[in-house]
Amino acid sequence: MKQITTSQELRSYRDTCTGSVGFVPTMGALHEGHISLVKKSVAENDTTIVSIFVNPTQFLPGEDLDAYPRKIAADIKICELAGVDCLFMPTTDAVYTREEPAICAPKIKGYILEGYHRPGHFDGVLQVVLKLLNLTRPTRAYFGKKDAQQLYLIQNMVRTLFLTTEIVPCDIVREKDGLALSSRNVYLSPEERERALLLSKSLKRATKMIIEGERDAEKIKTQMRKILSPTAIEYIEIVDRDFNRLDEIEIDNTIILVAAKVGTTRLIDNMWV
Ligand code: PAJ
Repeated sequence: MKQITTSQELRSYRDTCTGSVGFVPTMGALHEGHISLVKKSVAENDTTIVSIFVNPTQFLPGEDLDAYPRKIAADIKICELAGVDCLFMPTTDAVYTREEPAICAPKIKGYILEGYHRPGHFDGVLQVVLKLLNLTRPTRAYFGKKDAQQLYLIQNMVRTLFLTTEIVPCDIVREKDGLALSSRNVYLSPEERERALLLSKSLKRATKMIIEGERDAEKIKTQMRKILSPTAIEYIEIVDRDFNRLDEIEIDNTIILVAAKVGTTRLIDNMWV
């Protein structure tokens, strides 16, 4: 596996690739969720490039940029074992300069839900993803449905900026008890982890209501709110696949989203119906 830290090296490496290139951008502290994206890319492409970069521009002041878990030695091993061809691990200076044009997330869809609670977060996400897509020029890039709004905004960026990469959405990987894997789960104490389970429990309850015939979004959200009450709820929302708010569930076109704080840890989860 080739390990690269500068953008020039990555460009040169990309120029040597023949056939299809799969790309998996991450912020490291890799877990089974990330690994599922990597395995899919390895299976579907001639070459797989993974990036590990804790992108400062997507963290708001006061967020966990400095504390964000970093496990670089373990990550390198994981990528090697998964069959990654090239691992890009740049420093901030290799990605950003002092003065440069920035990209703004769409005014509405980039500033609701996650974007409302973390204003400017998606500007930073789109900025770094655009840079990484330009460096790797992948045939396919892999993103988790875990970050559903991020996935939507990246698909939207690729479409509207006429990029040629195919964005591949990947299913959420969960622990056996339902907890969605997240690099931030390491922050949870055993007691907090129990409470964190309420996110997936509320989504399971919502899905069960829908299977039983319920279509009223308000009624579903009310039940979810009850289940989530021991957490500090940030939002419970039901949207279509383009992130328009729904009053009525539309089968095969609905995403149910939750965000809540458990202790000081902010968690998100969702279910595609
Ligand atoms: P990060 O949080 O490291 O996630 C990298 C990718 O892994 C994202 O596409 C995310 O949706 C996916 N992922 C995380 N947990 C998952 C799970 N439990 N199941 C399936 N996929 C999961 O998302 C980012 O990094 C950054 O915003 C990034 C896109 C790299 C830009 O900096």
